[in-house]
Amino acid sequence: MFNTQLNETQLLIKETAAQFAAERVYPSAQERDITASFPSDIVREMGELGFMGMMIDPEWGGSGLDAVSYVVAMEEISKADASVGVIMSVNNSLVCWGIVTYGTDDQKERFLKPLASGQKLGAFCLSEPEAGSDATSQYTNAHQEGEYWVLNGTKNWITNGTSANTYLVFAQTDREKRHKGITCFLVDRNTEGFEPGKKEDKLGIRSSDTCSIGLMNVRVHESDILGGVGNGFKIAMESLNGGRIGIAAQALGIAQAAFEAALKYSKERKAFGKPICELQAIQMKLADMSMKIDAARLLIHKAASMKDNHQTYIKEAAHAKLFASKTAVEVALEAIQVHGGYGYVREYNVERYLRDAKITEIYEGTSEIQHIVIARELLKAL
Ligand code: CAA
Repeated sequence: MFNTQLNETQLLIKETAAQFAAERVYPSAQERDITASFPSDIVREMGELGFMGMMIDPEWGGSGLDAVSYVVAMEEISKADASVGVIMSVNNSLVCWGIVTYGTDDQKERFLKPLASGQKLGAFCLSEPEAGSDATSQYTNAHQEGEYWVLNGTKNWITNGTSANTYLVFAQTDREKRHKGITCFLVDRNTEGFEPGKKEDKLGIRSSDTCSIGLMNVRVHESDILGGVGNGFKIAMESLNGGRIGIAAQALGIAQAAFEAALKYSKERKAFGKPICELQAIQMKLADMSMKIDAARLLIHKAASMKDNHQTYIKEAAHAKLFASKTAVEVALEAIQVHGGYGYVREYNVERYLRDAKITEIYEGTSEIQHIVIARELLKAL
């Protein structure tokens, strides 16, 4: 059974992340939400603090911490600004993890070290305009020309899309083999024919940058194939298992922020001659919010502990993401309700929490996909 108490290192990470989030991330979060500006300075500082490659061994530029420390930090950073949370999550779980697990030493030296130390930023290019949930139906293709592979296609909804330096690009190298014909390529942003599109104007997580990527005869040397030809889909699915724990922690951070805002407001706001926190209608909301948040945190820490203990955690990661993302949306909605009209305007931040929460039910596998993943794991066990 996993331990519900944080150890000394995990507590220290929590304090460091909380302090950084309160001092450096939160004060400018609302402004960034309005201007949709990418937090370059904050991302650089997070690299210096070791938050961009948390689970990577120091030998490869990371902090050598466990997955529980990672979710604890993700929660604190996302509590201040979920846009910063997703930038951190993609770099840690979807980019660094794949390279440390499947990369050669040469790839780790060239790509992982700068990514894990925060000198460079990574992006994960799996989704396409017509292949989101149905990730095996990749249209992007690559064919071999001597020592090079030539990539053509379009990727969609790419987090860190215009700001990253290194991109994991999934492409079909043998269409007949379907998912077993998908290969993962490490692509440098400056490669000819690699073209990030314009930033999407999003409902939430507005300061993270999301765009499509055009690939027009992009030539990648065979030494930059990650994990061998035909292993791309496996790398993508395994990366997403870990990624889903990270997004669950992001959702938890949003829910915690919304809950704390509602609790504080309910003590300050008076109605019917007393603070509204003394009204049962409000107390019931606060009690439900805190219960769901606690349950989400337990599911997330369980999945992270199982990852740390090298146990299979596919179902547990999906449980955590499905429940935490639902919780984030529900808690943010209730936080608005507690604030009444004030919750509906920008000044009180809670409307931002709702807008930010919604994406956690969509990316890195929609809630519907999480149900499928859970059910398949249950049936597999029979
Ligand atoms: N972990 C490990 N392996 C998995 C897996 C998982 N979670 N899910 C599927 N697989 C494996 C299967 O075991 C199978 O392997 P074998 O062929 O060796 O048996 C293989 O993948 C194919 O699986 P299925 O036959 O089940 O394929 P499917 O097409 O029926 O369904 C799916 C696959 C589960 C629906 C998958 O396509 C999926 O997870 N879709 C969601 C994609 C997703 O999460 N996209 C997020 C985009 S990235 C993003 O959002 C990042 C960002 O920028 C924030």
